[in-house]
Amino acid sequence: MVSNRKLEAWVQEVASMCQPEKVVWCDGSATEYQTMLRLMVQAGTAQWLDPGKRPNSIYVRSDPADVARVEEFTFICSKSKEDAGPTNNWRDPDEIRQTLTGLFAGCMAGRTLYVIPYSMGPIGSPIAKIGVELTDSPYVVANMHIMARVGTRVLEVLGAEGEFVRGLHSVGAPIASATAADSPWPCNAQNKYICHFPETREIWSFGSGYGGNALLGKKCHALRIASVQARDEGWLAEHMLILKLTNPAGKSLYVGAAFPSACGKTNLAMLEPTVAGWKVETIGDDIAWMKFGADGRLYAINPEAGFFGVAPGTSMQSNPNALRTLGKNAIFTNCAITPEGDVWWEGMSDVPPPALLDWLRRPWTPQSNRKSAHPNSRFTVPARQCPVIAPEWEDPKGVPISAFLFGGRRATTAPLVNEAFSWQHGTFLGSIMSSETTAAAAGAQGQLRFDPFAMLPFCGYHMGDYFAHWLKVGGASTPEKLPRIYYVNWFRRGADGGFLWPGYGENSRVLKWVFERVTGTGQAVDTPIGRLPAPGALDLAGLDVPKADQEELLRVDAKSWLADLPLLRAHYEKFGTRLPAVLKEELDALEQRLLAAK
Ligand code: GTP
Ligand code: SPV
Ligand code: MN
Repeated sequence: MVSNRKLEAWVQEVASMCQPEKVVWCDGSATEYQTMLRLMVQAGTAQWLDPGKRPNSIYVRSDPADVARVEEFTFICSKSKEDAGPTNNWRDPDEIRQTLTGLFAGCMAGRTLYVIPYSMGPIGSPIAKIGVELTDSPYVVANMHIMARVGTRVLEVLGAEGEFVRGLHSVGAPIASATAADSPWPCNAQNKYICHFPETREIWSFGSGYGGNALLGKKCHALRIASVQARDEGWLAEHMLILKLTNPAGKSLYVGAAFPSACGKTNLAMLEPTVAGWKVETIGDDIAWMKFGADGRLYAINPEAGFFGVAPGTSMQSNPNALRTLGKNAIFTNCAITPEGDVWWEGMSDVPPPALLDWLRRPWTPQSNRKSAHPNSRFTVPARQCPVIAPEWEDPKGVPISAFLFGGRRATTAPLVNEAFSWQHGTFLGSIMSSETTAAAAGAQGQLRFDPFAMLPFCGYHMGDYFAHWLKVGGASTPEKLPRIYYVNWFRRGADGGFLWPGYGENSRVLKWVFERVTGTGQAVDTPIGRLPAPGALDLAGLDVPKADQEELLRVDAKSWLADLPLLRAHYEKFGTRLPAVLKEELDALEQRLLAAK
């Protein structure tokens, strides 16, 4: 086998710093995956689920202090602070390297150092990229097997001289002596650092075993590092699902949608349309990498190979295709477990099981005054098991995107859907996205914050430059070839606090309008904020939503938009001189249109 000298040297260097008991090069085989599951079960981290109900699946509970991404301890360590921008935490690369070197010294004692070569994207795709994660966590190895293409075949593509992103990860919990037991879910309660070095394409992650903190191919590489590469090389790395939408006549197009964490990407990516004759198939549910093809269109790949999805709320009513995907070969983290050895979470069934063990290992009944599953409990499962995965989901050249949707959780103001006037206006809409925070990140939930392009926690450089990059991408092709841009909101609330829009499969009504707009038949009316469906243009036939609520969902309230303007201006202030002037002009133009409409 070809060996890559840089990789060999780096593994040596890390091994002498971290002092693992041994080093294992992962081959990516099925046997290796099973070994990881067995190791976790033996260590007490995992237990087997009932093989009659969920073959080859395990249940894992994390340390209660390690349940989500830690944005507070996530750093962009660019040479200059200015390059990280106002929305990222920054550390000086030399200083943080010293701190990290201190923490990593001896941190793998008693553990195995696994070397995981991975490809983000179908192996050999011109859009794919290679990384290597070094980790001391079998949970990470197993999850990376599902989420990326891993092992020997990646090393073959990497070759002797190939470049790769370096990701070093440790749970930060050395085992003191050969006789000491491993803790059920090792992590480091005192120190967590998720550090990115964009200039040298490196990631150092310490102290957490959880999802986006530890599966370094995902947020750290495919978004934070890749967004910097994309800026440098003229492409896009986005927090977007990719879906294939087919109309009753059999014509298909592809849509990318950027919603913040736990705001509905997995659900939209595999929805079962309620509109007869329409079909949705999945390409990806979290990340899209896009490059221009020779025809001037943007082609997207899903760099991942699996889903790391939000469990609560997933049911046969809301997302039947997710549940069908989860029938076997799945890893469940932090949900509840039934006495029969199956999983459960809030929303999985209308009537909860009479008795459960909750994610904190405590007995739970429907009378217990708390949730049985952690709100950020998750499943990991291979994408190929999804019954509606599109046949072309691994096409190395990607799929041509016709529309982008942006959206978040907004209880007020933002209507169900509106279309941008242009790419520039769409970039403006992306830049002013805001959404209520969710359990996907540690910290308060339900707090409205700006989350431009759903990239607030994931952009590896200055967000003002990121806006400029979007504008530049728009200038690199002709308007007819660029995706049209839409802003959607499934989460508007009524006076009683409940959601006005039923969501889930009913979102196909909005997809249908988007399809019709893109193909030239959908009707729209201009409003100050963008183009909304003309009366009757949105197919609401048979929808069980009161007429008044339907109207409210499509109402553009100039007064509440005007009331938001000072917040938008303050948001833009943060970016200083790096805010593209045309976005400021878009904001001024919006104000003028709103004032004229008042
Ligand atoms: P990440 O994996 O964190 O990036 O999240 P995601 O964007 O893929 O979110 P996901 O689809 O997993 O949805 C998160 C939560 O929102 C789940 O509890 C869903 O049940 C809920 N949800 C998804 N779509 C809708 C919708 O259309 N309406 C409502 N009300 N809730 C939804
Ligand atoms: C998100 O938080 O947006 C996720 C889950 O997709 S994690 O991989 O934990 O970041
Ligand atoms: Mn995500």
